[in-house]
Amino acid sequence: LHIAVLMGGWSSERPVSLMSGEGVAKALEAKGHRVTRIDMGRDVAQKLAEAAPDVVFNALHGTPGEDGTVQGLMDLMGLTYTHSGLATSVIAIDKQLTKQALVPHGIPMPGGRIVQSEELFERDPLPRPYVVKPVNEGSSVGVAIVTAGGNYGDPINRDAIGPWNEFDELLAEPFIRGRELTTAVLVDKALLVTELRPKSGFYDFDAKYTDGMTDHICPADIPDEIAEACKDIALRAHQLLGCKGTSRSDFRWDDEQGVEGLFLLEVNTQPGMTPLSLVPEQAKALGMDYGDLVEAIVSDALA
Ligand code: DAL
Ligand code: MG
Repeated sequence: LHIAVLMGGWSSERPVSLMSGEGVAKALEAKGHRVTRIDMGRDVAQKLAEAAPDVVFNALHGTPGEDGTVQGLMDLMGLTYTHSGLATSVIAIDKQLTKQALVPHGIPMPGGRIVQSEELFERDPLPRPYVVKPVNEGSSVGVAIVTAGGNYGDPINRDAIGPWNEFDELLAEPFIRGRELTTAVLVDKALLVTELRPKSGFYDFDAKYTDGMTDHICPADIPDEIAEACKDIALRAHQLLGCKGTSRSDFRWDDEQGVEGLFLLEVNTQPGMTPLSLVPEQAKALGMDYGDLVEAIVSDALA
């Protein structure tokens, strides 16, 4: 096959996408496919038209790329592409829209409210501790946990507490103590549960992409009931949102509350494919190597 691997772009996750894209491109070449690497710029339509691939492997993360814009363009161009389509991407990139889509179906997610950054510097939107995050970023970009002892509220230290001024819309959610879990879905099958244990602080950008900064326990050492609940929720969320190919659902679990303490935070429709990424790790734990995983995602797009 002739496969265009679409990567890069100009979201804050550009460097992550370049790593995902390069990994995918090498794996596809090793499988004998002809690969065209496309670093997305404003001329992406022209580059895609020139390449005229059989299928596009979408290795973009963030906005634009994971948010439906590029999916809509590829729909217009009549291109076949991996991962989720336009409508799913628009909803899933937005953590608040995702709640609105999933909570009515009984998927447990933390309550939250949208706040303007100015409001955050004036008063607490929720009782502490709470989390503030941009509605549509990935890789923990812009996420801050506001704890009782934080320096929040001190106008002199506004720059120290989070780059919130850069984002139009922020989501404030209660902080869920306990553990960080994640489950991948590959072609309508939930894989495993991984627990992420960052060696310090929380599972932020550096902890995600610096080798050795986070222990990945896969499969997680958690009760069967919790593992089954993660897999069930991840699969239902994938199906309710209409995801394709692969997705990854991220959770917090308050281990003092049993299954009642399990909350879905978000569904990632373009999960990372870097060497430290979680979907490849879960696939590997089930005996599927990186190349076969990439091939399975491509086959699903062509099915
Ligand atoms: N947003 C990153 C790429 C992930 O979900 O893996
Ligand atoms: Mg994400």
